[in-house]
Amino acid sequence: MYMEPFNQKSLERVVSQRALQIGSSFPCQICVVGFLSGVCLTSLFLAALTSLGTFEFGGISFSAISLGNSPLNSSSSGFISEYTVSSADCKLKRKEIITERWVDSKGSKNGVDDERVSLLHSAWSALLSKSEDGEIAFWESAGLNKSAVPNAPHLENCKLSEQVNERLDKRAENESLPPWTTWKGLLDTHPASMLNEQLRYFRHQEISEGAYPPWITGSDEENYPLTRKVQRDIWLHQHPENCRNPNTRFLVADWERLPGFGIGAQLAGMCGLLAIAINEKRVLVTSYYNRADHDGCKGSFRSSWSCYFFPETSQECRDRAFELMGSKEALERRIITTKDNYTSKEIWTGRTPRVWNEPWSFLQPTTEINGSLVAFHRKMDRRWWRAQAIRYLMRFQTQYMCGLMNVARNAAFGKEAAKMVLTSLGREWPEDFGNKRRSDIEEFVWANYRPWIPRPLLSMHVRMGDKACEMKVVEFEGYMHLADRIRQRFPHLKSIWLSTEMQEVINKSKLYTNWNFYYTNVTRQVGNMTMATYEASLGRQTSTDYPLVNFLMATEADFFVGALGSTWCFLIDGMRNTGGKVMAGYLSVNKDRFW
Ligand SMILES: *[C@@H]1O[C@H](CO)[C@@H](O)[C@H](O)[C@H]1NC(C)=O
Ligand SMILES: *[C@@H]1O[C@H](CO)[C@@H](O)[C@H](O)[C@H]1NC(C)=O
Ligand SMILES: *[C@@H]1O[C@H](CO)[C@@H](O)[C@H](O)[C@H]1NC(C)=O
Ligand SMILES: *[C@@H]1O[C@H](CO)[C@@H](O)[C@H](O)[C@H]1NC(C)=O
Ligand SMILES: *[C@@H]1O[C@H](CO)[C@@H](O)[C@H](O)[C@H]1NC(C)=O
Ligand SMILES: *[C@@H]1O[C@H](CO)[C@@H](O)[C@H](O)[C@H]1NC(C)=O
Ligand SMILES: *[C@@H]1O[C@H](CO)[C@@H](O)[C@H](O)[C@H]1NC(C)=O
Ligand SMILES: *[C@@H]1O[C@H](CO)[C@@H](O)[C@H](O)[C@H]1NC(C)=O
Repeated sequence: MYMEPFNQKSLERVVSQRALQIGSSFPCQICVVGFLSGVCLTSLFLAALTSLGTFEFGGISFSAISLGNSPLNSSSSGFISEYTVSSADCKLKRKEIITERWVDSKGSKNGVDDERVSLLHSAWSALLSKSEDGEIAFWESAGLNKSAVPNAPHLENCKLSEQVNERLDKRAENESLPPWTTWKGLLDTHPASMLNEQLRYFRHQEISEGAYPPWITGSDEENYPLTRKVQRDIWLHQHPENCRNPNTRFLVADWERLPGFGIGAQLAGMCGLLAIAINEKRVLVTSYYNRADHDGCKGSFRSSWSCYFFPETSQECRDRAFELMGSKEALERRIITTKDNYTSKEIWTGRTPRVWNEPWSFLQPTTEINGSLVAFHRKMDRRWWRAQAIRYLMRFQTQYMCGLMNVARNAAFGKEAAKMVLTSLGREWPEDFGNKRRSDIEEFVWANYRPWIPRPLLSMHVRMGDKACEMKVVEFEGYMHLADRIRQRFPHLKSIWLSTEMQEVINKSKLYTNWNFYYTNVTRQVGNMTMATYEASLGRQTSTDYPLVNFLMATEADFFVGALGSTWCFLIDGMRNTGGKVMAGYLSVNKDRFW
């Protein structure tokens, strides 16, 4: 795993050799003599780093030592030898380090550290806990003060994110578009952007051009052609300035709900309906979403897409559309249409909007199937369009979805994060936590970072089960073969987020000991049960929450291996190609059945 307690033996060997060469002055030689007792070792080592202002003790540098193959053997290797330690440094720093830092690392030898890691991890879990009583009980039993829990790098402040995104999903005052500028997220709320006349002017210019839908990351080259423009235009299409204008027309559609429709098929169907809506100049309004019909989605979020992601249109338009649904006249005059007005062929294989010409004719060839890049295939327009539509529908997560991601990240990466945080604190947490005041750079600049995950991360979606009718099923070994292929080019890749419904696959993953696998803790399918039966056995909430978590994780991962023959992987591919990941490429075990 990422940061196992470092290998004391190899460290001592490595450091003592180097230190003997460095330690020419008397105090330092004393340090060197003291090495084997294990005390001065660290102090000298840290002194060396301190003189350069680095405090990464036990962090990445240490993992590198314990994992690497004795990198510090000869004098040519540059870890310590680059830093000279003056005798003064050695004397001064030693004191500080022994009292402050050494305590930390010594702890890791006798197990105290593991306890603190667990404590911190449980404290974070308590913060995420939905049960208020359970949370209070935890703080009391652990004797911890909530305000003394260090920030979790792998968790997102979901409430804040939702507020920020709500602002970015509404028109700015006197503007025709939301405040999308080149100042990212919270930075745009910094007082500076309001005070200065010239800045205000530039801000207005940027907003009126709307070139930066904030849910698109990466440069234009790292996304499908025209992604930014198309996303902006879809947003504008879905958010008319006046929903009550008699010329505003609507398409109101339920999500597919026959049990045979998987979650991917439902999404693909909605992408088709969005295409129809754009072609017919209607605002798409989604209604009953069976997968959100559970107790996790409360109040008006129940049975609605907006339980998981921001709604496809504004509340005003939704209200207006549902009002019109009651009017016979509106239906007859085609001011409003429903799914029943279209054939399933129109929905599933309908015409891709041509308002942006044919950007799919220059899709980057970045997908590899069976050893070669696929440059052209059939239905390229559909691939491009589904990517745009799914990206738009999932542009912002709600607090609920964001919370699910937090829980998943905390379960998978929380321990690793706790180790890193405790190492960086440099204090005897929880006894001494120090000052938690946040500075402006944290509030405005660093707050815009996505939560930490152990990068590089490869996401892998292995689908077998009842998929045989839809595509040629490939065994897990086939997927791992592709993973190994990526690793040959990127040898620092060692983590896989494994998403699968098959217990058999989880079992097999244990045989690949040179990879770290992460997966959600959910009951998996055994044998040849159909997907519908399996989902029913999980219950509606789990069978929706859990795939969506995997879906978003796959979107954010650095690499992806899947089967383009499955609608689900096809949609993940779309999200990645509109999420700045085009250049990561896509290795697929098979191709779409329509290509
Ligand atoms: C250092 O390298 C030499 C040869 O290059 C090798 O014989 C020796 O065992 C190495 N020492 C360590 C500590 O790895
Ligand atoms: C927790 O910390 C806050 C602020 O540091 C303090 O006001 C509060 O009294 C503390 N609560 C307990 C139970 O120690
Ligand atoms: C919006 O326009 C109104 C009227 O033109 C003006 O009074 C107001 O200050 C404007 N608001 C902003 C934020 O520019
Ligand atoms: C659309 O469907 C509704 C009811 O399903 C029907 O009343 C209406 O006439 C249909 N409109 C058209 C143009 O087919
Ligand atoms: C994969 O490529 C090899 C040679 O390039 C070819 O023999 C084989 O039939 C291909 N397999 C598939 C499934 O296309
Ligand atoms: C997976 O492994 C567990 C225990 O290692 C075993 O009980 C179970 O039957 C295996 N499941 C499958 C589907 O291979
Ligand atoms: C997985 O979930 C089950 C029940 O939902 C629970 O009993 C088990 O402890 C969990 N396992 C882990 C490793 O969290
Ligand atoms: C599942 O497998 C069992 C035995 O292997 C077989 O009897 C059954 O018909 C299969 N069910 C389906 C739906 O394929």
